[in-house]
Amino acid sequence: MDHQVRLAVGIAAIGGFLFGYDTGVVSGALLYIPNDFDTTSFTKGLIVSVLLLGAMTGALIGGRAADRLGRKKALIGAAIVFLLGTALCTLAPSLWVLVAGRFVLGLGVGSASVLVPLYASEMAPPEQRGALVSLNQLMITIGIVVAYLVDWAFSHGENWRAMFAVAAIPATILLLGMLGRPESPRWLVNHGREDEVRDRLDDGDVSEAWIDRAIEEWRDEDAARARSRGWRDLLLPGLRMAMIVGIGLAVIQQFTGINTVIYYAPTILSDTGLAPGNAILQALPIGIVNVLATIVAIRLIDRLGRRPLLLTSLAGMAVSLVVLGFSFALKDSLGGAQSWVALTSLVAYVAAFAIGLGPVFWLLIAEIYPNVVRGSAASAASSANWLSNFAVSLVFLPVIDAVGQDVTFWILAALCVGSFFFVQRLVPETKGRTLEEISADLGTTEGLEQAEGPRSDERPGGMTPPGAPATA
Ligand code: BGC
Repeated sequence: MDHQVRLAVGIAAIGGFLFGYDTGVVSGALLYIPNDFDTTSFTKGLIVSVLLLGAMTGALIGGRAADRLGRKKALIGAAIVFLLGTALCTLAPSLWVLVAGRFVLGLGVGSASVLVPLYASEMAPPEQRGALVSLNQLMITIGIVVAYLVDWAFSHGENWRAMFAVAAIPATILLLGMLGRPESPRWLVNHGREDEVRDRLDDGDVSEAWIDRAIEEWRDEDAARARSRGWRDLLLPGLRMAMIVGIGLAVIQQFTGINTVIYYAPTILSDTGLAPGNAILQALPIGIVNVLATIVAIRLIDRLGRRPLLLTSLAGMAVSLVVLGFSFALKDSLGGAQSWVALTSLVAYVAAFAIGLGPVFWLLIAEIYPNVVRGSAASAASSANWLSNFAVSLVFLPVIDAVGQDVTFWILAALCVGSFFFVQRLVPETKGRTLEEISADLGTTEGLEQAEGPRSDERPGGMTPPGAPATA
């Protein structure tokens, strides 16, 4: 594969690392923030969850910025926002500046969550797109583990400011690294900047005819109106199915409970009677399994396809959650074995998530929308993901108080079963297809055209797509 493509996606994926780091770092920092500021359980909750609200907003802004300014400039903007948020949190003179800083970090996290998969999907050749886009999810999981380790390292000095400050390093690399990377060729073509793509592709390795065909394929059927596309268009009938799939998977990814485990694993485990001990060390094996299973997913995603991974993932999550529920229901008869049954099922649950639902959601929302609305549509799906994350994080502990751990985990298991059927019926397979073919399969391109009537500059029929690497 083209070295330039790999480098570009690798650098952009630092945005994924920051997503993981900034969502993970707060659990450790929260232990020491009360040393400096007066906090209540409400303000502590706010420091955690205001990031999710920021991310919801950032996801909306990020995709629109990507459609208007280009993917590259939007990513550079996100890096600057990360630096600003990091500075506010690190230097915060008061609790409220810290809360504002967490919101700004959220803007960065949310916009990166849209921009990284978008850019990667448009740079990658079809047969490796799954693996390249899922590098984002791998970096998210690594970011979470690194955050646990950094928290642990600075916990000895109780230095929560340093925990936040470390994020400035990857944010600076993202900023400087993106300055030298190319813009997405699809975006350039759709914004009348074909010549730049032509210049870049014209390195003697490919024929003029190939370049013409690639550009023809990237050009969206609706290129003439590309710049006027906006939120309103997401409601067009042709996009309905793709919107249902994207937003449906966003809700499913969060409502099947992943962040109840990522954010609350130590709480769940100490409920099983395991000594509270060092919360960080308890969370670490779960974080590591998350990374390892994501690596397995990356190896399989372009070979087996997205649907088999999603279905296996949901089935595995459902079974693990049922067992987890039983470990609480049968607490008395299991005795000392209970914490081990609980820990094993938590690890199995995270592995099952990481092998499918984790990476595939972010991949599909970058694949299933036509070029001209890809940014806005992926924004809407991502924003729905952050809103769902916020809602679940808010209600999880109160639901446990109301119905008990066993019933709570069984409810999550039932949601996995329902989601299994949603995926089986509605989610398309996108393995090995070009982004344009996927839109054609879903009927989105035609649907958009029908909604606006026939056009005079129809693309000639019967053209074979180049299917060759989308390098620029
Ligand atoms: C989800 C996050 C989650 C992470 C865990 C991502 O795909 O969107 O909410 O914390 O996976 O690895």
